[in-house]
Amino acid sequence: MPETTADTLPLAGRKDEDMPGHWLLARMGKRVLRPGGKELTRHLLADAALAGADVVELAPGLGKTATEILEHSPRSYVGIEADPQAVALTEQAIVGRGTVRHADADATGLDDASADAVVGEAMLTMQTERGKSAIIDEAFRVLRPGGRYAVHELSLHPDTLSDDAKTEIRKALARSIKVNARPLTEVEWRELFEKAGFEVEQVRFAPMALLETRRMIADEGIVGTLKIGYNIARNAAARKRILDMRSVFIRYRDQMSAIEVIVRKPRVAE
Ligand SMILES: C[S@@+](CC[C@H](N)C(=O)[O-])C[C@H]1O[C@@H](n2cnc3c(N)ncnc32)[C@H](O)[C@@H]1O
Repeated sequence: MPETTADTLPLAGRKDEDMPGHWLLARMGKRVLRPGGKELTRHLLADAALAGADVVELAPGLGKTATEILEHSPRSYVGIEADPQAVALTEQAIVGRGTVRHADADATGLDDASADAVVGEAMLTMQTERGKSAIIDEAFRVLRPGGRYAVHELSLHPDTLSDDAKTEIRKALARSIKVNARPLTEVEWRELFEKAGFEVEQVRFAPMALLETRRMIADEGIVGTLKIGYNIARNAAARKRILDMRSVFIRYRDQMSAIEVIVRKPRVAE
């Protein structure tokens, strides 16, 4: 991974108080910014069958998953990232072994049926309902028949959760992480992909334990975790924000989890 400093991160000039939660955590030194951590990413990439594939990653962020995708020996790698600083960080991370385009995931500029796999983590959840559908339609367009779209996002439980409870969780997330996160239930995620024409191939879950010590050590290592802890300890504003985020994750731990969904574009269009 490239040397990432507070100055090279997206929104470098933004105050800790207003920073979107994922970039605040990155500022503190955290590098794994997805709800199911490295372990769910490992399953996701294995299930997506990337060897020899033309792979598109939507929203690579710091480029951490990009380097893991490259370990699967794809034929090609293209990242599509909306934030220019994240584009530069992903370019540094992949050191010429692919390309990264500054574009929105709903308008990648890639050719129709030009990819075998599309991967996206921790980015659909933060889109509106219309935004989610636009990105899923774009993934469908760029995939070849039989190609897979592999996502790692946030889900709500149970499927019967009331609308009031969903609204309460979404508001609490928005207030604490300062991103309009709109996680869906498993059924809602499935319906969204099926509406776009995909067939759901696999679904897995992992606890939403982004800020739990055990997960932090698994994702960042002991030295990384100590550095993050040190950075948080010396920064009162960031500490307040992160403790607040953690308390929301704990309050709703039974209703939230990380979800992996692997969907496939049918071989013959119906
Ligand atoms: C929470 S970070 C996740 C980054 C990375 N996927 C990971 O798991 O570590 C969200 C990323 O999505 C990017 N992003 C959000 N909306 C996007 C969009 N519509 N098109 C492309 N990138 C987007 C942001 O710039 C940011 O890099």
